[in-house]
Amino acid sequence: MSDKINFAVVGTGIFATDTHLPTIQKIPELNPAAAYNRTKSKAEQFATKAGIPQDKVYDTLEEAFQDKTIDFVDALLPVQFNLDAVKLAIEHNKPLAFEKPIAANLTQAKEIVQLSEKTEVPIMILENWTYLSAIDILKNQVLPKIGEVVAFTYNATGPFHDTSKYLATGWRQKPEHIGGFLSDGGVHQLALLTEVLGEVESVSGLTKQLREQSGADDILFSTFKLKSGVIGTFTYGSAFGATDKSTSFTIFGTEGSAVYDWSPSLSKPTVTYQTGSTSSTASAKSSIEIDEINTIEAEFKNFRDVVKANDKKLVKVTPRKAFHHLAIVAAALESSKKNGTSVNVEIP
Ligand SMILES: NC(=O)c1ccc[n+]([C@@H]2O[C@H](COP(=O)([O-])OP(=O)(O)OC[C@H]3O[C@@H](n4cnc5c(N)ncnc54)[C@H](OP(=O)(O)O)[C@@H]3O)[C@@H](O)[C@H]2O)c1
Repeated sequence: MSDKINFAVVGTGIFATDTHLPTIQKIPELNPAAAYNRTKSKAEQFATKAGIPQDKVYDTLEEAFQDKTIDFVDALLPVQFNLDAVKLAIEHNKPLAFEKPIAANLTQAKEIVQLSEKTEVPIMILENWTYLSAIDILKNQVLPKIGEVVAFTYNATGPFHDTSKYLATGWRQKPEHIGGFLSDGGVHQLALLTEVLGEVESVSGLTKQLREQSGADDILFSTFKLKSGVIGTFTYGSAFGATDKSTSFTIFGTEGSAVYDWSPSLSKPTVTYQTGSTSSTASAKSSIEIDEINTIEAEFKNFRDVVKANDKKLVKVTPRKAFHHLAIVAAALESSKKNGTSVNVEIP
């Protein structure tokens, strides 16, 4: 491989144009070198922006995987097509990084896990929240100070954004993927939660659809039991009437507690903690303001290293990990159908 790592972008929609391209252009070794999109004119526009020659704009998805000059494929397709991309990657021995959620449902997601674990071809899910520096701060600096972790409350709620550009995409309006916006954005929240506290064993939840435009249930109120025995609540939804966007994660320990708050009203995401086993022995509050990193840049640096070393062991977000995030959403949806009965989170 030359110093430059050539990659093809497939699915040149909003996130490819607005976020992947400008972020990747900050990483000198990574070179956008080919593109594919269902509507070809959009791929041609993307190619012009990215400096990709027009003869490297393909007519089919498969051509991106066949091209011997391409070192990896970056896929941003509607999630129901992720399994197709994985199959092509393995067939053509081409490393693949693709956007979350892992798949449209657990059957597809299970197949992706199985296929990826049988091949040496690196396959990574672009779940950028896994790279948040807040995760390390919580795990390594703060949680060791608050005794045994016993419980949590996780809240990510906000108003309905009727002007969101993402709302206007056809595959989101008529979702083939389970949970619609609950899985689209919910997997990010669940990546953060599980990176900090570990995997979820079971879920009791109630979901509801508040907005017709969501195409599926769009709010979730639930209780989780983690594999560690920790219990907590998880509340998620951006479909409410006017309200402040509020995102906070409180972790309770036997010797204190910590609150990670990344609500937009704060100037910076902040972890605040206090120690002591009772109110009368409570310490003063300490705060850590976080200069958060660009997590999209971090995930592409991760995949650059994977491709350079041709070593799938360096993949930070494996299909198995991303399966778990989607499986929690699936368990919540199933629990809601059973009026909140506890449902075990599936294992692939
Ligand atoms: N990490 C994050 O924070 C984040 C944020 C946003 C999105 N994402 C992920 O990025 C991916 C793309 O999302 P997006 O918001 O960019 O959506 P988008 O703008 O709709 O882009 C999807 C692209 O796929 C193409 N497409 C649609 N239907 C297709 C089909 N049947 N076969 C082949 N291609 C098809 C579309 O082409 P046409 O032009 O023909 O419609 C479009 O260019 C999704 O996986 C999403 O979850 C991640």
